Amino acid sequence: MNEAHLRVGDLDVTRIGLGTNRLTKSRENVAFIRSAVAAGVQMIDTAHLYTGGDSEETIGEALSPFPEGCIVATKGGFGGPGRGRPELLHAELEQSLRRLRIDTIYLYYLHRVDPETPIEESLGAIKEHRDRGTVRYVGISEVGIDQIERARRVVPIAAVQNHYNLSERKYESVVDYCTEEGIVFVPFFPLRGDGGGALAEIARRHRATPRQITLAWLLRRSPAMLPIPGTLSLDHLKENLAALKIDLSDAEFEALR
Ligand SMILES: NC(=O)c1ccc[n+]([C@@H]2O[C@H](COP(=O)([O-])OP(=O)(O)OC[C@H]3O[C@@H](n4cnc5c(N)ncnc54)[C@H](OP(=O)(O)O)[C@@H]3O)[C@@H](O)[C@H]2O)c1
Repeated sequence: MNEAHLRVGDLDVTRIGLGTNRLTKSRENVAFIRSAVAAGVQMIDTAHLYTGGDSEETIGEALSPFPEGCIVATKGGFGGPGRGRPELLHAELEQSLRRLRIDTIYLYYLHRVDPETPIEESLGAIKEHRDRGTVRYVGISEVGIDQIERARRVVPIAAVQNHYNLSERKYESVVDYCTEEGIVFVPFFPLRGDGGGALAEIARRHRATPRQITLAWLLRRSPAMLPIPGTLSLDHLKENLAALKIDLSDAEFEALR
């Protein structure tokens, strides 16, 4: 039986979150975010980059002051060489605080390692916010084990967010590393990829959709896994949360592996 909750920092949250990289600002989307939390989502994933700032602003408008137990994670430092320079990260982080209408970001990720800025310098900038109290926990995105270990020498790393799903498996060793080290592994693009014919058959057997089986597979893959499927539909979101109740047999898990 998969655990329905996972500890992120010092809070236990529902093990399926919500990705918001298509969230634009509208009355409907403000209502959608509130309904998502009411439906049981406790980890909302956004970034400084998303929808030109609309995603963070919409979440800020919908949730501030944030309900107890609900985590909003955001990210900064995306966009290519130079974007991980400390002064840019400080500026983005301060903008994220304003857009989200909060004083402390619960989980802040370095969105990408900057090829021109040593990872230690980018993480050092985020650590300054952690020391100041404007960031509570730190994460890092699209990284290998060496980079995570370098990052951890600067600041504790609570979460790693990498591209991972049924078809994209280049980070298997990172999943195992995070599991062993007690770091939350957040797979992005969790619903992409294809489990082939076996997926459709297993879905039929569980009277579930292939996407639900995909999520159930991820949950089963590691107890450290916390997928953040992106959706703008409350029906889809509820369907995604319902995947928490699906238990795959060992044979089903292996057939999709
Ligand atoms: N760290 C990074 O660099 C990085 C990169 C990319 C993404 N991300 C994060 O990861 C999140 C997830 O990625 P993603 O949203 O791009 O891809 P995804 O979660 O793999 O798939 C989202 C797509 O699936 C659809 N969908 C969701 N639930 C569904 C359901 N139950 N039934 C049918 N369709 C469903 C969505 O459309 P509907 O709106 O119609 O449901 C959308 O088209 C993003 O939102 C973002 O927060 C992070």
